[in-house]
Amino acid sequence: MNVLTLGSGGREHALAWKLAQSPKVDKVWVAPGNAGTAIDAENVPIPENDFPALIKFCKENDVSLVVVGPEAPLSAGAVDAFAEAGIRAFGPSKKAARIEGSKIFCKEVLNKALVPTARANVFDSAEDAYRYIDESEPGGFVIKADGLAAGKGVAVASTKAEAKEAVKRIAEDRAFGDAGSRFLIEERLSGQEASVLAITDGRTIVTLQPAQDHKAAYDGDKGPNTGGMGAYCPASLVDDEKLAWIEEKVLLPTVVEMNRIDAKFKGVLYAGLMMTQQGPRVLEYNARFGDPECQPLLSRLKTDLVDIVEATVDEKLDLLEPLEWDPRPAVCVVMASEGYPGSYKKGAPISGLEEAAKLPDVKVFHAGTKLVDGVVVANGGRVLDVVALGDTVADAKRKAYEAVSKISWEGSWSRTDIADKEINAVRNKRVE
Ligand code: AMP
Ligand code: GLY
Repeated sequence: MNVLTLGSGGREHALAWKLAQSPKVDKVWVAPGNAGTAIDAENVPIPENDFPALIKFCKENDVSLVVVGPEAPLSAGAVDAFAEAGIRAFGPSKKAARIEGSKIFCKEVLNKALVPTARANVFDSAEDAYRYIDESEPGGFVIKADGLAAGKGVAVASTKAEAKEAVKRIAEDRAFGDAGSRFLIEERLSGQEASVLAITDGRTIVTLQPAQDHKAAYDGDKGPNTGGMGAYCPASLVDDEKLAWIEEKVLLPTVVEMNRIDAKFKGVLYAGLMMTQQGPRVLEYNARFGDPECQPLLSRLKTDLVDIVEATVDEKLDLLEPLEWDPRPAVCVVMASEGYPGSYKKGAPISGLEEAAKLPDVKVFHAGTKLVDGVVVANGGRVLDVVALGDTVADAKRKAYEAVSKISWEGSWSRTDIADKEINAVRNKRVE
Protein backbone atom coordinates (compact mmCIF):
# COMPACT_ATOMS: atom_id res chain seq x y z
CA MET A 1 0.00 0.00 0.00
CA ASN A 2 0.95 3.65 -0.34
CA VAL A 3 1.05 5.80 2.79
CA LEU A 4 1.08 9.58 3.26
CA THR A 5 2.49 11.26 6.38
CA LEU A 6 1.53 14.87 7.11
CA GLY A 7 4.05 17.26 8.67
CA SER A 8 7.64 18.38 8.31
CA GLY A 9 9.44 17.85 11.63
CA GLY A 10 11.57 15.23 13.32
CA ARG A 11 8.50 13.35 14.48
CA GLU A 12 7.31 13.04 10.90
CA HIS A 13 10.73 11.90 9.72
CA ALA A 14 10.68 9.16 12.36
CA LEU A 15 7.12 8.18 11.42
CA ALA A 16 7.93 8.02 7.70
CA TRP A 17 11.17 6.07 8.36
CA LYS A 18 9.33 3.54 10.51
CA LEU A 19 6.35 3.21 8.15
CA ALA A 20 8.73 2.61 5.25
CA GLN A 21 10.16 -0.42 7.08
CA SER A 22 6.82 -2.22 6.91
CA PRO A 23 6.64 -5.12 4.45
CA LYS A 24 3.07 -3.97 3.74
CA VAL A 25 4.20 -0.61 2.39
CA ASP A 26 5.20 0.09 -1.21
CA LYS A 27 5.75 3.80 -0.89
CA VAL A 28 5.73 6.48 1.79
CA TRP A 29 5.05 10.10 0.89
CA VAL A 30 5.49 13.04 3.24
CA ALA A 31 3.69 16.37 2.80
CA PRO A 32 5.47 18.71 2.90
CA GLY A 33 8.43 16.93 4.58
CA ASN A 34 12.07 18.03 4.94
CA ALA A 35 15.49 17.04 3.59
CA GLY A 36 15.52 13.89 5.75
CA THR A 37 12.12 12.64 4.67
CA ALA A 38 13.27 13.17 1.08
CA ILE A 39 15.89 10.47 1.74
CA ASP A 40 13.84 7.90 3.66
CA ALA A 41 10.59 8.59 1.80
CA GLU A 42 9.43 10.99 -0.92
CA ASN A 43 8.23 14.54 -0.38
CA VAL A 44 5.09 16.10 -1.79
CA PRO A 45 5.07 19.93 -1.86
CA ILE A 46 1.56 20.33 -0.45
CA PRO A 47 1.02 22.17 2.87
CA GLU A 48 -0.22 19.93 5.69
CA ASN A 49 -3.45 21.97 6.04
CA ASP A 50 -4.50 22.00 2.38
CA PHE A 51 -6.92 19.10 2.68
CA PRO A 52 -8.51 19.33 -0.81
CA ALA A 53 -5.07 19.20 -2.49
CA LEU A 54 -3.94 16.35 -0.21
CA ILE A 55 -7.09 14.33 -0.90
CA LYS A 56 -6.63 14.87 -4.63
CA PHE A 57 -3.02 13.69 -4.32
CA CYS A 58 -4.10 10.57 -2.39
CA LYS A 59 -6.67 9.68 -5.05
CA GLU A 60 -4.24 10.20 -7.90
CA ASN A 61 -1.48 8.19 -6.22
CA ASP A 62 -3.45 5.35 -4.73
CA VAL A 63 -2.71 6.36 -1.13
CA SER A 64 -4.90 4.30 1.19
CA LEU A 65 -3.55 5.33 4.59
CA VAL A 66 -2.68 8.76 6.00
CA VAL A 67 -0.76 9.34 9.23
CA VAL A 68 -1.16 12.87 10.61
CA GLY A 69 1.85 14.04 12.65
CA PRO A 70 1.20 17.53 14.08
CA GLU A 71 -1.65 19.00 16.11
CA ALA A 72 -2.62 21.83 13.74
CA PRO A 73 -4.05 19.68 10.92
CA LEU A 74 -5.73 17.40 13.50
CA SER A 75 -7.42 20.37 15.14
CA ALA A 76 -8.42 21.66 11.71
CA GLY A 77 -10.22 18.39 10.95
CA ALA A 78 -7.73 16.49 8.76
CA VAL A 79 -8.91 13.04 9.82
CA ASP A 80 -12.57 13.96 9.27
CA ALA A 81 -11.75 15.36 5.80
CA PHE A 82 -9.88 12.22 4.71
CA ALA A 83 -12.58 9.94 6.16
CA GLU A 84 -15.26 11.83 4.23
CA ALA A 85 -13.24 11.25 1.06
CA GLY A 86 -13.05 7.52 1.87
CA ILE A 87 -9.38 7.56 2.87
CA ARG A 88 -8.32 5.95 6.15
CA ALA A 89 -6.46 8.39 8.37
CA PHE A 90 -4.73 7.88 11.72
CA GLY A 91 -5.41 10.43 14.43
CA PRO A 92 -8.32 11.89 16.38
CA SER A 93 -11.26 13.64 14.77
CA LYS A 94 -11.52 17.41 15.01
CA LYS A 95 -13.89 17.02 17.94
CA ALA A 96 -11.58 14.66 19.83
CA ALA A 97 -8.45 16.73 19.04
CA ARG A 98 -9.95 19.48 21.21
CA ILE A 99 -8.38 17.65 24.13
CA GLU A 100 -5.17 19.34 22.96
CA GLY A 101 -6.65 22.32 21.10
CA SER A 102 -8.55 23.68 24.10
CA LYS A 103 -6.98 23.53 27.54
CA ILE A 104 -10.35 24.40 29.07
CA PHE A 105 -12.04 21.50 27.28
CA CYS A 106 -9.18 19.24 28.42
CA LYS A 107 -9.62 20.35 32.04
CA GLU A 108 -13.37 19.68 31.83
CA VAL A 109 -12.72 16.16 30.55
CA LEU A 110 -10.14 15.51 33.28
CA ASN A 111 -12.46 16.77 36.01
CA LYS A 112 -15.46 14.84 34.72
CA ALA A 113 -13.36 11.67 34.47
CA LEU A 114 -11.97 12.25 38.00
CA VAL A 115 -8.41 12.19 36.65
CA PRO A 116 -5.91 13.79 39.06
CA THR A 117 -4.86 17.20 37.71
CA ALA A 118 -4.04 20.70 38.98
CA ARG A 119 -7.00 22.70 40.33
CA ALA A 120 -7.92 25.43 37.86
CA ASN A 121 -10.28 28.34 37.29
CA VAL A 122 -11.47 29.57 33.90
CA PHE A 123 -11.45 33.28 32.96
CA ASP A 124 -12.46 35.36 30.00
CA SER A 125 -11.67 38.73 31.54
CA ALA A 126 -8.30 40.07 32.64
CA GLU A 127 -10.00 42.17 35.36
CA ASP A 128 -11.58 39.08 36.94
CA ALA A 129 -8.23 37.30 36.78
CA TYR A 130 -6.38 40.18 38.46
CA ARG A 131 -8.97 40.20 41.24
CA TYR A 132 -8.69 36.41 41.64
CA ILE A 133 -4.89 36.64 41.87
CA ASP A 134 -5.11 39.48 44.44
CA GLU A 135 -7.50 37.48 46.59
CA SER A 136 -5.49 34.22 46.37
CA GLU A 137 -2.84 32.99 48.77
CA PRO A 138 0.64 33.97 47.60
CA GLY A 139 2.60 31.20 45.87
CA GLY A 140 2.77 29.78 42.40
CA PHE A 141 0.28 30.23 39.60
CA VAL A 142 0.23 28.76 36.13
CA ILE A 143 -1.53 30.77 33.44
CA LYS A 144 -2.60 28.89 30.30
CA ALA A 145 -4.09 30.34 27.13
CA ASP A 146 -7.00 28.14 26.09
CA GLY A 147 -6.07 27.62 22.45
CA LEU A 148 -3.12 26.28 20.49
CA ALA A 149 -0.04 28.49 20.92
CA ALA A 150 2.79 26.28 19.64
CA GLY A 151 3.61 25.23 23.21
CA LYS A 152 4.20 28.84 24.28
CA GLY A 153 0.82 29.68 25.79
CA VAL A 154 1.73 28.50 29.30
CA ALA A 155 3.38 30.77 31.90
CA VAL A 156 4.59 29.45 35.23
CA ALA A 157 4.60 32.35 37.72
CA SER A 158 6.21 32.40 41.17
CA THR A 159 4.64 35.66 42.38
CA LYS A 160 1.36 37.50 42.02
CA ALA A 161 3.11 40.19 39.97
CA GLU A 162 4.45 37.61 37.52
CA ALA A 163 1.01 36.00 37.30
CA LYS A 164 -0.61 39.34 36.47
CA GLU A 165 2.06 40.06 33.90
CA ALA A 166 1.26 36.72 32.22
CA VAL A 167 -2.48 37.46 32.27
CA LYS A 168 -1.78 40.83 30.66
CA ARG A 169 0.32 39.20 27.92
CA ILE A 170 -2.24 36.51 27.16
CA ALA A 171 -5.55 38.33 27.69
CA GLU A 172 -4.84 42.01 27.04
CA ASP A 173 -1.87 42.11 24.65
CA ARG A 174 -3.17 38.95 22.95
CA ALA A 175 0.34 37.58 22.47
CA PHE A 176 -1.25 34.38 21.16
CA GLY A 177 -4.20 36.01 19.39
CA ASP A 178 -7.62 34.48 19.96
CA ALA A 179 -6.02 31.49 21.72
CA GLY A 180 -5.94 33.83 24.73
CA SER A 181 -9.56 35.03 24.66
CA ARG A 182 -10.20 32.50 27.43
CA PHE A 183 -7.56 31.20 29.81
CA LEU A 184 -6.98 29.11 32.90
CA ILE A 185 -5.23 29.93 36.15
CA GLU A 186 -3.98 26.74 37.77
CA GLU A 187 -2.32 25.84 41.02
CA ARG A 188 1.39 25.33 40.50
CA LEU A 189 2.52 21.76 41.08
CA SER A 190 6.06 20.56 41.52
CA GLY A 191 7.87 17.38 40.62
CA GLN A 192 9.57 15.70 37.70
CA GLU A 193 7.75 15.40 34.41
CA ALA A 194 7.19 12.38 32.20
CA SER A 195 5.38 11.67 28.96
CA VAL A 196 3.16 8.61 28.80
CA LEU A 197 1.71 7.99 25.36
CA ALA A 198 -0.97 5.46 24.55
CA ILE A 199 -2.40 4.36 21.25
CA THR A 200 -6.15 3.99 21.45
CA ASP A 201 -9.00 3.15 19.11
CA GLY A 202 -11.56 4.41 21.60
CA ARG A 203 -12.12 0.91 22.98
CA THR A 204 -8.67 -0.43 23.87
CA ILE A 205 -5.49 1.31 24.95
CA VAL A 206 -1.98 0.18 24.13
CA THR A 207 0.42 2.10 26.33
CA LEU A 208 3.87 2.89 25.01
CA GLN A 209 6.95 2.86 27.21
CA PRO A 210 7.31 6.06 29.26
CA ALA A 211 9.59 8.78 27.95
CA GLN A 212 11.02 12.01 29.23
CA ASP A 213 11.36 15.26 27.35
CA HIS A 214 13.71 18.18 28.16
CA LYS A 215 11.60 21.28 27.61
CA ALA A 216 13.99 23.95 28.91
CA ALA A 217 16.47 25.39 26.43
CA TYR A 218 19.69 25.11 28.43
CA ASP A 219 21.61 22.63 30.59
CA GLY A 220 20.28 22.03 34.08
CA ASP A 221 16.73 22.76 32.84
CA LYS A 222 17.53 26.48 32.72
CA GLY A 223 16.28 29.06 30.25
CA PRO A 224 13.08 29.48 28.30
CA ASN A 225 10.74 26.63 27.37
CA THR A 226 11.17 25.08 23.93
CA GLY A 227 9.39 22.43 21.89
CA GLY A 228 11.84 19.96 23.48
CA MET A 229 15.65 19.82 23.39
CA GLY A 230 16.00 16.07 23.83
CA ALA A 231 14.29 12.96 25.13
CA TYR A 232 14.94 9.46 26.30
CA CYS A 233 12.98 6.28 26.62
CA PRO A 234 12.26 4.35 28.78
CA ALA A 235 12.06 6.67 31.79
CA SER A 236 12.51 4.81 35.09
CA LEU A 237 10.69 7.65 36.84
CA VAL A 238 7.53 5.85 35.72
CA ASP A 239 8.06 2.29 36.90
CA ASP A 240 5.69 -0.58 36.05
CA GLU A 241 3.53 0.06 39.07
CA LYS A 242 3.12 3.76 38.26
CA LEU A 243 2.46 2.95 34.61
CA ALA A 244 -0.34 0.56 35.58
CA TRP A 245 -1.78 3.26 37.87
CA ILE A 246 -1.64 5.81 35.03
CA GLU A 247 -3.44 3.42 32.69
CA GLU A 248 -6.17 2.77 35.22
CA LYS A 249 -6.64 6.22 36.75
CA VAL A 250 -5.67 8.49 33.87
CA LEU A 251 -5.81 7.02 30.37
CA LEU A 252 -8.78 4.66 30.57
CA PRO A 253 -11.14 7.09 32.36
CA THR A 254 -10.22 9.73 29.78
CA VAL A 255 -11.03 7.44 26.85
CA VAL A 256 -14.35 6.50 28.51
CA GLU A 257 -15.25 10.15 29.13
CA MET A 258 -14.45 11.08 25.52
CA ASN A 259 -16.85 8.35 24.37
CA ARG A 260 -19.48 9.59 26.79
CA ILE A 261 -19.41 13.07 25.31
CA ASP A 262 -19.52 11.65 21.79
CA ALA A 263 -15.91 12.59 21.00
CA LYS A 264 -14.39 9.13 20.59
CA PHE A 265 -10.61 9.47 20.73
CA LYS A 266 -8.63 7.45 18.18
CA GLY A 267 -4.90 7.92 17.71
CA VAL A 268 -2.14 8.84 20.14
CA LEU A 269 -3.29 10.09 23.53
CA TYR A 270 -0.25 11.72 25.09
CA ALA A 271 -0.41 12.50 28.80
CA GLY A 272 2.04 15.13 30.03
CA LEU A 273 2.40 14.20 33.71
CA MET A 274 4.02 15.66 36.79
CA MET A 275 5.11 13.19 39.46
CA THR A 276 4.13 15.11 42.60
CA GLN A 277 4.47 14.05 46.24
CA GLN A 278 0.76 13.21 46.06
CA GLY A 279 1.17 11.01 42.97
CA PRO A 280 1.05 11.61 39.20
CA ARG A 281 -0.99 14.60 38.00
CA VAL A 282 -1.93 15.37 34.38
CA LEU A 283 -0.59 18.73 33.20
CA GLU A 284 -1.97 18.43 29.70
CA TYR A 285 -3.04 16.07 26.98
CA ASN A 286 -1.69 16.10 23.46
CA ALA A 287 -3.55 14.42 20.64
CA ARG A 288 -0.48 13.11 18.76
CA PHE A 289 3.00 11.73 19.19
CA GLY A 290 5.33 14.00 21.16
CA ASP A 291 8.18 15.64 19.35
CA PRO A 292 10.97 14.69 20.18
CA GLU A 293 9.64 11.75 22.31
CA CYS A 294 8.44 10.00 19.15
CA GLN A 295 12.00 9.69 17.82
CA PRO A 296 13.48 7.54 20.64
CA LEU A 297 10.16 5.68 21.02
CA LEU A 298 9.98 4.61 17.38
CA SER A 299 13.71 3.85 17.35
CA ARG A 300 13.02 1.15 19.94
CA LEU A 301 9.68 -0.10 18.63
CA LYS A 302 10.02 -3.43 16.83
CA THR A 303 6.34 -3.99 16.04
CA ASP A 304 5.27 -2.96 12.53
CA LEU A 305 3.90 0.59 12.87
CA VAL A 306 1.47 -0.05 10.01
CA ASP A 307 -0.14 -2.86 12.03
CA ILE A 308 -0.62 -0.46 14.93
CA VAL A 309 -1.97 2.32 12.73
CA GLU A 310 -4.39 0.05 10.86
CA ALA A 311 -5.64 -1.62 14.05
CA THR A 312 -6.35 1.83 15.49
CA VAL A 313 -8.18 3.17 12.45
CA ASP A 314 -10.19 -0.07 12.12
CA GLU A 315 -10.90 -0.22 15.88
CA LYS A 316 -9.24 -3.61 16.23
CA LEU A 317 -6.51 -2.79 18.75
CA ASP A 318 -7.81 -5.57 20.99
CA LEU A 319 -6.52 -8.04 18.38
CA LEU A 320 -3.00 -6.57 18.19
CA GLU A 321 -0.20 -8.71 19.62
CA PRO A 322 1.65 -7.10 22.57
CA LEU A 323 4.15 -4.52 21.34
CA GLU A 324 7.75 -5.60 20.91
CA TRP A 325 10.55 -3.27 21.98
CA ASP A 326 14.27 -3.21 21.52
CA PRO A 327 15.39 -3.66 25.15
CA ARG A 328 18.13 -1.06 24.70
CA PRO A 329 17.37 2.48 25.89
CA ALA A 330 17.34 5.32 23.37
CA VAL A 331 18.55 8.89 23.81
CA CYS A 332 17.65 11.73 21.44
CA VAL A 333 19.65 14.98 21.38
CA VAL A 334 18.15 17.93 19.52
CA MET A 335 20.55 20.15 17.58
CA ALA A 336 19.21 23.70 17.28
CA SER A 337 20.04 26.96 15.54
CA GLU A 338 21.58 29.90 17.39
CA GLY A 339 18.80 32.07 18.81
CA TYR A 340 16.20 29.31 19.21
CA PRO A 341 13.62 29.41 20.84
CA GLY A 342 13.74 33.09 19.84
CA SER A 343 14.51 34.19 16.29
CA TYR A 344 17.21 32.39 14.31
CA LYS A 345 18.82 32.43 10.89
CA LYS A 346 18.02 29.92 8.17
CA GLY A 347 20.05 28.64 5.26
CA ALA A 348 23.42 27.58 6.75
CA PRO A 349 24.77 24.40 5.11
CA ILE A 350 25.08 21.43 7.50
CA SER A 351 28.27 19.35 7.47
CA GLY A 352 29.06 15.93 8.91
CA LEU A 353 25.74 14.19 8.26
CA GLU A 354 27.33 11.33 6.30
CA GLU A 355 29.99 10.79 8.94
CA ALA A 356 27.40 10.67 11.73
CA ALA A 357 25.24 8.26 9.74
CA LYS A 358 28.13 5.77 9.61
CA LEU A 359 28.18 5.38 13.41
CA PRO A 360 26.54 2.18 14.69
CA ASP A 361 23.16 2.38 16.47
CA VAL A 362 22.71 6.01 15.46
CA LYS A 363 19.98 7.61 13.38
CA VAL A 364 19.81 11.30 12.56
CA PHE A 365 16.24 12.47 12.06
CA HIS A 366 15.76 15.81 10.35
CA ALA A 367 13.51 18.37 12.06
CA GLY A 368 14.08 21.71 10.32
CA THR A 369 16.12 21.09 7.17
CA LYS A 370 15.77 21.77 3.48
CA LEU A 371 17.61 20.65 0.37
CA VAL A 372 19.03 23.58 -1.62
CA ASP A 373 20.90 22.61 -4.80
CA GLY A 374 21.63 19.19 -3.33
CA VAL A 375 22.96 20.64 -0.05
CA VAL A 376 21.17 20.09 3.28
CA VAL A 377 20.72 23.45 5.02
CA ALA A 378 19.30 24.46 8.41
CA ASN A 379 15.72 25.62 7.96
CA GLY A 380 14.30 25.85 11.47
CA GLY A 381 14.94 26.36 15.17
CA ARG A 382 15.14 22.69 15.98
CA VAL A 383 17.14 21.31 13.07
CA LEU A 384 18.22 17.72 13.77
CA ASP A 385 17.29 14.99 16.25
CA VAL A 386 20.21 12.64 16.85
CA VAL A 387 19.05 9.31 18.31
CA ALA A 388 21.29 6.51 19.60
CA LEU A 389 20.56 3.14 21.15
CA GLY A 390 22.93 1.83 23.81
CA ASP A 391 23.37 -1.05 26.23
CA THR A 392 22.74 1.44 29.02
CA VAL A 393 21.35 4.97 29.03
CA ALA A 394 24.87 6.27 29.60
CA ASP A 395 26.07 4.30 26.57
CA ALA A 396 23.20 5.64 24.44
CA LYS A 397 23.99 9.18 25.56
CA ARG A 398 27.69 8.75 24.71
CA LYS A 399 26.87 7.45 21.23
CA ALA A 400 24.33 10.21 20.58
CA TYR A 401 26.81 12.93 21.55
CA GLU A 402 29.56 11.30 19.50
CA ALA A 403 27.28 11.68 16.47
CA VAL A 404 26.42 15.25 17.49
CA SER A 405 30.15 16.07 17.58
CA LYS A 406 30.49 15.13 13.90
CA ILE A 407 27.72 17.50 12.76
CA SER A 408 27.80 21.28 12.60
CA TRP A 409 26.56 24.41 10.85
CA GLU A 410 27.04 28.06 11.62
CA GLY A 411 25.41 28.65 15.01
CA SER A 412 24.55 24.99 15.78
CA TRP A 413 24.20 24.02 19.44
CA SER A 414 22.59 21.47 21.72
CA ARG A 415 22.15 20.82 25.42
CA THR A 416 24.98 18.70 26.80
CA ASP A 417 23.06 16.99 29.60
CA ILE A 418 20.27 15.08 27.86
CA ALA A 419 19.40 11.91 29.85
CA ASP A 420 21.61 12.83 32.82
CA LYS A 421 18.61 12.65 35.16
CA GLU A 422 18.04 9.07 34.08
CA ILE A 423 21.73 8.18 34.30
CA ASN A 424 21.86 9.56 37.85
CA ALA A 425 18.63 7.79 38.83
CA VAL A 426 20.00 4.46 37.59
CA ARG A 427 23.33 5.08 39.36
CA ASN A 428 21.60 5.98 42.64
CA LYS A 429 19.44 2.89 42.47
CA ARG A 430 22.55 0.75 42.11
CA VAL A 431 24.11 2.39 45.19
CA GLU A 432 20.94 1.74 47.23
P1 AMP B 1 1.52 22.28 29.24
O1 AMP B 1 1.56 22.83 27.83
O2 AMP B 1 0.17 22.44 29.90
O3 AMP B 1 2.12 20.93 29.39
O4 AMP B 1 2.56 23.20 30.05
C1 AMP B 1 3.89 23.34 29.61
C2 AMP B 1 4.81 23.21 30.79
O5 AMP B 1 4.42 24.10 31.83
C3 AMP B 1 4.77 21.82 31.43
O6 AMP B 1 5.63 20.94 30.80
C4 AMP B 1 5.23 22.16 32.82
O7 AMP B 1 6.63 22.27 32.89
C5 AMP B 1 4.63 23.51 33.08
N1 AMP B 1 3.33 23.37 33.77
C6 AMP B 1 2.10 23.24 33.21
N2 AMP B 1 1.14 23.15 34.15
C7 AMP B 1 1.77 23.22 35.34
C8 AMP B 1 1.32 23.21 36.71
N3 AMP B 1 0.02 23.12 37.03
N4 AMP B 1 2.26 23.31 37.67
C9 AMP B 1 3.56 23.44 37.37
N5 AMP B 1 4.05 23.47 36.12
C10 AMP B 1 3.17 23.37 35.11
N1 GLY C 1 7.63 17.27 23.42
C1 GLY C 1 6.46 17.96 23.78
C2 GLY C 1 5.40 17.94 22.78
O1 GLY C 1 5.47 17.27 21.77
O2 GLY C 1 4.40 18.61 22.98
